Amino acid sequence: MSTAAEHYEHHLGPIYVWMAGGAEAALQAGSAEIEALNLPVIRGAVVLDLGAGFGMHSIPLARRGARVTAIDSSTELLHTLTELRGDLPVHAVNDDLLEFHDHIAEAPSAILCMGDTITHLPDLRAVRNLVERASVELPPGGMFVVSFRDYTVPLTGAQRFVPVRSDDTRILTCFLEYEPSVVLVHDILHVRISDGWQTRVGHYPKLRLSPEKLTNCLQSNGFNVRREGGMGGMVRLVAQRV
Ligand SMILES: C[S@@+](CC[C@H](N)C(=O)[O-])C[C@H]1O[C@@H](n2cnc3c(N)ncnc32)[C@H](O)[C@@H]1O
Repeated sequence: MSTAAEHYEHHLGPIYVWMAGGAEAALQAGSAEIEALNLPVIRGAVVLDLGAGFGMHSIPLARRGARVTAIDSSTELLHTLTELRGDLPVHAVNDDLLEFHDHIAEAPSAILCMGDTITHLPDLRAVRNLVERASVELPPGGMFVVSFRDYTVPLTGAQRFVPVRSDDTRILTCFLEYEPSVVLVHDILHVRISDGWQTRVGHYPKLRLSPEKLTNCLQSNGFNVRREGGMGGMVRLVAQRV
């Protein structure tokens, strides 16, 4: 089994933008999500995007006037981000998102961890560390927004095969295998080659993080929490530092 970082390097990184529907459509979706969030972020405010990927939220935030630090462990996705950002103030940082405090020069107005990134952390202790560090770094009124999939109720039978995206040249399907604390995500990629199809398979673990548990953790670290529906059926927790 790969770690999340290895899986992105060898498997998902090269197809991630395609998987997200192409850069333009993904940035539009990210922009719609940022608009829906309506964060109280003034022009020039510092925002951290943890597990930023190719900038689906970082770039729309910067277009709204934020100065964004985008942290990700995938060099490939950060390379795409730097191509897409143009002149926008998005600073790309290649690091583990738990080390985000090393990249803060001034107090952030908001910290985002979107698109099911938090479930890539290795265990609940790492989730608690992230929340504690966000609580320390955010000033009163600062926002911490987390969107993720709720894998607590296992899918069964054919429901575990999830078609992700397909076109004439590639087909990506996920198979979900449930273990007590993680779900193993098997990515099955079929790539068209000259004389047929080539199959590439890899898997990595995602945490079965309960929205209630994360809400409690946020509350006990000094956040008021609002729960809402996020993109593509995700849970979104919008937490404000008291
Ligand atoms: C599902 S993608 C979401 C990307 C982006 N937030 C979005 O909504 O499109 C998860 C991202 O988190 C990154 N990632 C996973 N674990 C990480 C870690 N421990 N530190 C930094 N980045 C991480 C991956 O490289 C990937 O870009």
